[in-house]
Formats: sequence, structure tokens, C-alpha cells
Amino acid sequence: MVIRMAARMGGIKPSVTLGVVQKAAELRAKGVDVLSFSAGEPDFPTPPHIVNAAKAALDAGRTQYTPVPGIAALRRAIAQRSAAVRGVDADESNVIVSSGAKHALYEFFQAVLDPGDEVIVPAPYWVSYPDQVRLAGGEPVIVPTSADNAYCLTPKELEMAMSDRTKAVILNSPNNPTGAVYPRELLDELTRMTVSAGAFVVADEIYRDLVYEGEHVSPLSLVDEQHRDRVFVVDGVSKTYSMTGWRIGWGIGNADLIKSMIKIQGQSTSNATTFAQYGALEAINGPLSFLTDWKSQYVMRRDAMLSGLESIPGVTCGRPQGAFYVLADVTQTLSRMGPGADDVALAGLLIDRARVAVVPGSAFGVGGHLRLSYATSLENIERGMKRLARVFGEL
Ligand SMILES: Cc1ncc(COP(=O)(O)O)c(C=O)c1O
Repeated sequence: MVIRMAARMGGIKPSVTLGVVQKAAELRAKGVDVLSFSAGEPDFPTPPHIVNAAKAALDAGRTQYTPVPGIAALRRAIAQRSAAVRGVDADESNVIVSSGAKHALYEFFQAVLDPGDEVIVPAPYWVSYPDQVRLAGGEPVIVPTSADNAYCLTPKELEMAMSDRTKAVILNSPNNPTGAVYPRELLDELTRMTVSAGAFVVADEIYRDLVYEGEHVSPLSLVDEQHRDRVFVVDGVSKTYSMTGWRIGWGIGNADLIKSMIKIQGQSTSNATTFAQYGALEAINGPLSFLTDWKSQYVMRRDAMLSGLESIPGVTCGRPQGAFYVLADVTQTLSRMGPGADDVALAGLLIDRARVAVVPGSAFGVGGHLRLSYATSLENIERGMKRLARVFGEL
């Protein structure tokens, strides 16, 4: 029997990044020595004080439902931390705790988009934005950015993309997949343009603690009081604390917007996992000293990956300032490979011939590129770069 799915499934693609991670894992399970630069997650274990807090919550019987938007102590801690780092007062009513930052974004789009509403998505973009917008009945407006501008959206590009249907503009800094960190003045201008047109800035700040050069600035810190309601911030514990599997993220925004999102959450997941919320509470309130070491490791790994990639003729990369990804431009290699060669085929070839897993740039709306994650050991990076140099040399 053929099961006919809903029409809205027509344009929805499975997550390419998760697909590559899966293929690498399958090969590894067969005993193949695959080096994976595809994961979007830190390779460090979650710090023990956080794990212990979740264990203590389980031992204390914290195994029932929580209020839909999360436990009050966690919402308060998130609001206080946000006020401290973004300089804008917030309280519990401005916060929803969700099952990962991904779900906070999903709920946001479900809450605000009507059919045909447009969301401006600068490309390269994180894989889930366009499909989440489509699932909510909206239209993603993909705006290509340029390597010459470090892949940051420019005011001119924004102006050209805006229409009277623009409902939101996504600004993701530090960026996945480019590692770009938006400079303050640029962010200021983009934020002002967006909010004064009556649209939301969706500030995806999931990598805000992973900045190696420059500073992280939040659109929330830049906007004047009268337009604050137009900024929606997405954040969470996944990347900073290496807690991807805990599935705790949050949205910070206008209290009425949060109320709508709570309705959606109440009819979908009910609440983020209870004992994981206690772990997240400890993550926010506990020591952050481990991060200094992690960040210095990321910097060493980034530099090793950059020098390995840049030594391969025909491969060029920008210099990522945050997150843990390098976006490599492989257009020259593809043109050498002949007609029909694209980044997806190249990524397939690299896994087959180099036993190296990378994600094709077209997953992020930027064909002709590959995304490599350096959230893996220096040793893996050094071995992987040698393998890549060998196989690229044969192409
Ligand atoms: C830019 C960006 N936003 C959001 C997320 C989702 O994070 P979470 O694991 O908390 O759902 C990711 C994860 O890869 C990401 O890269």
C-alpha cells in the first residue's frame, strides 16, 4: 500500500548533516577507519558537575512533568544570565525552555508565520532554517552572501531581499557553517533595518560562548527599548557545555510571543526532559572554567585544519572566528574534475577514497564548498588533512 503523505512534506528534506554522520557511523561499525569532520557537536564529555546535578535530580525523584515552559529556577537563571551578558532585563515570562534550540526555533516559526510570510535566510545557513520555515507555511528567502564580506549579510543585500511580507530575518553569529562572527556596526545596522520594518530579528546565538577572535554581540543589546519585542534570541546548552544529547535549549523574547510558543509546546512535547533541565540549571549556575581549556583546544584544532586545507592546491578557506567549523571552497577542484562534478559527489568520493566524512556545502545553501567540523582531536585532524591532501592530489 502506498501511503500518501501531507502536501507540506513535499518540499521537506531530511537533515543532510545527520545523514553524513550516520554514514560515517555505519562504516565505522563495519570496522572501517573513517575520520569524521561532519559532526555538529563538541567531542568533550559533559563536565561532571553538570552530570552529577542531573543524577542528583533523578535520585531526588525529579522524574515527573515540569511546567510546560520549564522549571521556574531554570527560566530565572536563563533570564538573569541573558540580562548579564546582553544587558537587557528579562524575567521568567520572557523565557521558554525547549527540547534543544532547534525546537525553540521551530516553535517560534509556528507561532508567528502565516502562509506566504517571508523569512530572510542569509546563505550559507544552518540546515534546518528553510525547512522549519516551510513547515510553518512560510517562505524562506535565501540570500547568498559573499566570501569577500566574510559571509556576513550586508545592509544592501538585506534591503534587496526585504518585502512587505518579510516577517523575520535570521542572524546567526557565530555562524554555522562559516564560523563568521558579525561585527558590531554591521549587526547594528541590520538589526535597525529589520525592526524598523516591523520584522523580527531571530538571533541564533547557540555558539555565543565559542568566539576566538573579535567579540560576540547580540542584536538584543543593540536594539532600542521600543523595538525590543522584535528580537527573538535562541540559545541553549548544546554547544557551550557539550550537552547536545540532553536536548535543552531556549528562546528569549516578548512575553506574549513566549505565551504562544508555550501553547505549541503544551500541545507537542509538554516540557523539556525534567532531569536534563536540572543539569542545564547547574550548567548555567556552575563554574565555566572548563571552557577556557576547550576554547584553546578549538583554536589549535582550527589552526591545524586551516593550515592543512590551505596547503592543498585549489582549496581556499576563510578564517573562522567562532563556532567549530571551516567552510572550504572547492570550486577549483570541482572544475578540474569535469562537468557534472559537485560538492555532493566530492563528499561521497572523499568518504569512499579518503575515508574522511565532510558535509557538502549545498546542504547549507552554498554549493561548491565543503564544511569540516574541527570538534575532534588534533590527531584526527592531522591524519585527516593528510588523507585529504592525498586524494585531492589525485583529482
Ligand atoms: C546554528 C545552529 N542553531 C541551532 C542549533 C540547534 O541546537 P540544539 O542542539 O540545541 O537543538 C544548531 C545545532 O547544530 C546550530 O548549529
